[in-house]
Amino acid sequence: MTHEAGWAHAPGALRAPSWLREPTDPNALVAQLWSQTAHKHAGVLTVGGVSLTDLAAEHGSPAYVLDEADFRARAGAFRRAFADYDVFYAGKAFLCTAVAHWVAEEGLNLDVCSGGELAVAERAGFDMARVGFHGNNKSIAEIEQAVTLGVGRIILDSLHEIERVAEVAERLGRTQSVMVRVTAGVEAHTHEYIATAHEDQKFGFSITNGDALDAVRRVVEVPSLHLLGLHSHIGSQIFDSSGFEVAARRVLALHARVSDELGVTLPEMDLGGGFGIAYTTQDDPSDPAQLAIEMSKIVEHECRGLGIAEPRLSIEPGRAIVGPAMCTLYEVGTVKEVALDGGATRTYVSVDGGMSDNIRTALYDADYSCTLASRASDAPPILARVVGKHCEAGDIVVKDEFLPGDVRPGDLLAVPGTGAYCRSMASNYNHALRPPVVAVLDGRSRVLVRRETLDDLLSTDVGNDQ
Ligand code: LLP
Repeated sequence: MTHEAGWAHAPGALRAPSWLREPTDPNALVAQLWSQTAHKHAGVLTVGGVSLTDLAAEHGSPAYVLDEADFRARAGAFRRAFADYDVFYAGKAFLCTAVAHWVAEEGLNLDVCSGGELAVAERAGFDMARVGFHGNNKSIAEIEQAVTLGVGRIILDSLHEIERVAEVAERLGRTQSVMVRVTAGVEAHTHEYIATAHEDQKFGFSITNGDALDAVRRVVEVPSLHLLGLHSHIGSQIFDSSGFEVAARRVLALHARVSDELGVTLPEMDLGGGFGIAYTTQDDPSDPAQLAIEMSKIVEHECRGLGIAEPRLSIEPGRAIVGPAMCTLYEVGTVKEVALDGGATRTYVSVDGGMSDNIRTALYDADYSCTLASRASDAPPILARVVGKHCEAGDIVVKDEFLPGDVRPGDLLAVPGTGAYCRSMASNYNHALRPPVVAVLDGRSRVLVRRETLDDLLSTDVGNDQ
């Protein structure tokens, strides 16, 4: 920071980030960022055979547009690539009853992490034996809900929870299958808030300080609990398999120790989710087939070294399945040129949503891209910042993107890669109405989650009724 009033005041400040190249044609889609059926016809973006101008006319904006064929293809690709594993779709990325059906139809299991997500699975009629229940502070009510429904596995996260689940299972006359969440002490190369396996954070039991072995020791002596194995999740939006490698080595070493010291051979192991996706051209994710080869090689090698049989493995991808399958459609409301010190000008393009439908830019400094979705333009590109309509300067959707220089009110913009952790982390900030999720397939659109209404918002405000 060279200027006392901040970076934006420095001379010549308005530069695109080094990875963002000025496009020769700002109308063109960067294919690897979009769902598989997305393309443009005369400048109009079409997904699942539905033009997004038609979709906006029918369903309004903002709207999340979910490409069903893309979601199913990615789910199916994980199932085929990891054929010897159990693949759990991580519902925290995005879940609704229709998606739970698709997950079941594509042969995947489901990971939930709250009573609410469990209720969606139940409403969808999801086979509870194929559900894993996570969370670092499940309430007694949530544990009772899970045990009563017969969820296949509960992932235990603390000593308190071991006792709580044991007590509930015993009271309900059940033996509950469980896993023990361990932390492998790995610094995943991702944003600090979404890295989960280093030591100083809230999840799991540390392998290094002996807590994990103590937790296992306790679980195996409780008759109402059946220990399936250890669970490790090192973080999210990870590209580099070296983190998985170190974690797998440490978790497998503990798995072997449990067998040696406690005489218990654990049948399973879960290596979590976290596989990264491309939000911009700077991201280069592996496909599921490559991931499966890499992970299996790591586990095989470690097990051979330890002289142990390989446990049955499971993984929990969320983002890598739903992330690229959705885009968010917005309408431009205003365009403002803001003169910066040093002579540069930034173009602020305000859309009809913002941090209430995508908090990731504000929360993680995430990068996104976007395209003009409703028309072609010959205007030379300008470097624009796409912002929302909320009462905060940090309400940014896309920090930097080249858009046609004649972008104007009434245009539709679409942001790709918004399937994971956007609708699921959406809020009613400023009493915004959360947008609908509209599925598109073979030229037809179908609302999966409807737009909220003012009545929805006001229905919880009961203070005036007394
Ligand atoms: N398994 C466990 C135990 C998890 O905690 C998570 C994500 C996953 C699987 C799925 O991870 P994925 O494959 O989707 O990366 N809100 C943040 C991400 C938080 C991830 C929380 N746990 C974001 O928007 O980037």
